[in-house]
Parts: sequence; C-alpha cells; structure tokens
Amino acid sequence: MMGKTSSPIHIEMKKKQLSEEVSGSPKDVPKLMPGGNYIKTGKDSAQSTCILFAPLGEEIGTLAKYLAIFQKHGVNLSHIESRPSTKVPNKYEFMVECEPSGDLGEAVCELKDNCEYLNIISRDYRDNIGTVPWFPRRIRDLDRFANQILSYGSELDADHPGFTDPVYRARRKYFADIAYNYRHGQKLPHVDYTKEEIETWGKVFRQLTTLYPTHACKEHNHVFPLLVENCGYREDNIPQLEDVSNFLKDCTGFTLRPVAGLLSSRDFLAGLAFRVFHSTQYIRHPSKPFYTPEPDVCHELLGHAPLFADPEFANFSQQIGLASLGAPDDYIEKLATCFWFTVEFGLCRENDQVKAYGAGLLSSYGELQYALEEKAEIRPFEPAKTALQKYPITEYQPIYYVAEDFEDAKEKMIKYAATIPKGFSVRYDPYTQSIEVLDSKPQIQRLVNNIHMEVAVLTDALRKL
Ligand SMILES: [Fe+2]
Repeated sequence: MMGKTSSPIHIEMKKKQLSEEVSGSPKDVPKLMPGGNYIKTGKDSAQSTCILFAPLGEEIGTLAKYLAIFQKHGVNLSHIESRPSTKVPNKYEFMVECEPSGDLGEAVCELKDNCEYLNIISRDYRDNIGTVPWFPRRIRDLDRFANQILSYGSELDADHPGFTDPVYRARRKYFADIAYNYRHGQKLPHVDYTKEEIETWGKVFRQLTTLYPTHACKEHNHVFPLLVENCGYREDNIPQLEDVSNFLKDCTGFTLRPVAGLLSSRDFLAGLAFRVFHSTQYIRHPSKPFYTPEPDVCHELLGHAPLFADPEFANFSQQIGLASLGAPDDYIEKLATCFWFTVEFGLCRENDQVKAYGAGLLSSYGELQYALEEKAEIRPFEPAKTALQKYPITEYQPIYYVAEDFEDAKEKMIKYAATIPKGFSVRYDPYTQSIEVLDSKPQIQRLVNNIHMEVAVLTDALRKL
C-alpha cells in the first residue's frame, strides 16, 4: 500500500487506489493524505524524521514563524539548525529533526506551501556524489517500515464509506494492528473473514472475472486459473495472504507482506527491490462494493498478485525497486510515477491488440473497460518521459502508457535507472536476501566470478541441447 504521488508531490505515493462505481464515473473520492512522500525516516533512529527546508523570506523572526507550524500540529522537534542553502546561493535553510508526535503530515503540507523548497535530509551515508538516503540492506530491514507509516489503516477520511460504521472501523483497526505487529519471518496473519466481507469479495470477483478473458493480458489470464486451483480464489472465499504469498514465492520469489497503513514511496518501492510487495488485507466497505478510496484486498489479490507470478513482470517490478534504493527524492517521485503508469495502470500490446496488466485496471470494472474500449490517450512507455507525466488519482486516467512487453519495459527501466545520479550500483543477492552495494573491487570481482559460473552453466546447457 503505497501512497500515491500527486499533488505537489507524488504519493508517498500517496496514491489512492481507485475503483469506482460500476456504472458511472468515479466519484466520492477522498482527499489526499497529507505529507506526500516527503516523510522519511530520521538519521538518529527509526522513529524520527528530518526535514530540510528553505524559508521564503529572511527577515528577523523567520525561524519562529516556521517553528510555530510544528507547534500548531503538535510535532516535537529534537534538533534545529540553520545552514547555508545547498541549492540557492546566498540563502540559508533549516534542518529540523521531528520526533514521532503530532500530525507531521499536516505540518509538512503547510510547510511546503510556505517555503522555497522542502526535502528530507537523509541519513548516514555518503557516496562520491553526496548524501545517500538510507535504504534497507537486508530483507529484515523492511521491519523498520512497519512503524513508519504515514497514516494508520484504521484512520478513515470523513467521506470514506465506512466512516460512520463502528463495526467496520473496529474491523479496520483489527487489520491495521495485525499488520503493525507483523515481523519478517513470521507466518502471514490468517484472517477469518466475515460472511458480509466474503459477500463483498464475491460481488467484485464475479464482476471482474467476466472481463478478464477479453481485457486482461495473457500473463494474468495464465496465472489466474492457477490461483483458483492453488490459493482458494473463489467468489465465496477471500484467499489468505499466506497462501498467495507462498504461491508467488514458488513462481518468482515474490512475497506479500501485510502493511498497517500508508507507506512512503521510498519505503514501498524499496520493498520491490527484495521482491516484497506490501499488501493490505482488509476489504472495502460493504455499502459500496464497487468503489474503494484506497487499496484493499480485492485490489491486491485480483489486480496485483497474478502478475507477480510472472517471471518477466517480477523482474520488471524489482528493477523499479532497485532503482529506488538510495535515489534522490525527486527520482523517487519519478520512479513512483513509472510504477503508477505500469504496475498500477499499465497497458501492453498483444499482437494487434492492447490489453491491461495494471492492477488499478484489473481491479476496477469501470476503468478496465474505459481504458480499452473508449478514447483514452495511449502513449508508448518511455520511462524518462512517463516519469514526468502528472496524473489524477481520483478519476480515470486521461493517459495510459503501453509497454511492448515486460522484457522491453524492464530493459527500458534499467537504462532509465542508469541515469539516476547515484555514486554506486546495487545488486540483489537472492541467497542472502540482501542488497549488495557494489562500491569496492573485491565485491565486483566476486560478481565477475559469479557471472563466470553462470556462463559455464549456460555453455554446458547449450552444448547438451
Ligand atoms: Fe496497487
């Protein structure tokens, strides 16, 4: 569950996943969560957040004016400093370290509207280009995200269909709590869904499965029957994340991980580098089975999960994640935008037809038809251009990007990733489920040795063919 990017910034990925009413255009869409993907972890611990910003003016009392914003939103500061601006000559900037308190998202939103620029100061690592934002090096490090969500999954907006339903709210708290307490290596929480929840799932399942044969890409249609066979995909059963995760692991090494709320784009994308997809487990409100203002288990399991079982799609998704590790904030936004136009709303070519592979389409009866049957603009997926495209998160997309195939999209993403200003390369080691930073000769020599071994296997296999 990544927030989507939009508004001044992209999500933390404050992306709100949208499904909509079957018959009409999207509506009842809630406002974006504040904070965007500016929220990042602080340098001292997993709990604090460092924010760097430049004031608009430099008159006496400027700092007090900005500190009042934090005070207004109940955010405690553990450190404040001013220093010459790294971006604007002859200006200065403030760096503040915020304790986990108050409404930091609102404070950041207000700051953004009242400063020259705002960014998150990063932790503890410098390469030959500059400071590198912290990123997880081991799969276990993803546990640190669990406590760094931008909003808790049980906090509903006033216009959420379940806002006034105490039973639904209690249920959402239950789901948020079990995800919050989840740690890497544990069995994914088993959920006994209620009769009403299963009925909601059934309505969505019945409707979407009528479109898949004609609208979904061949990879989705190949995997879906396997999920029916192996993971309990039925209209009278909501599959368990554990079963789906185990299935994906067997196919591509991807796993699911429950998430308690909205993750930052940086954290969400970092999960993909480890082939980990952060997934919600709750379901939309029963009063509006064909609408959800946020990702839910229907979106994750019907839209996302099938594609993560496809090896090429898994490779492509992981490349976005690897590209994000240590990337500057502006590139995180660009990568999240690429994610939006591919993994969420991507189209692909199949012979002379266009099909859908994006989860936002495959979990939305209305938009799935709209994207393929109406006059939406379609452009070729070119990461450098796609990454700059603005998009709405509360209505159908006016533009879709079409990939030739996942292999092609992956190659393009790798080329694009090479343009991200980083002074190091990374590779994922599947044996240790860790990220190796290739910044020393011995590491690169080991990689060369590994490639030699792979080439030897390849040569032997070719010889025997
Ligand atoms: Fe999604």
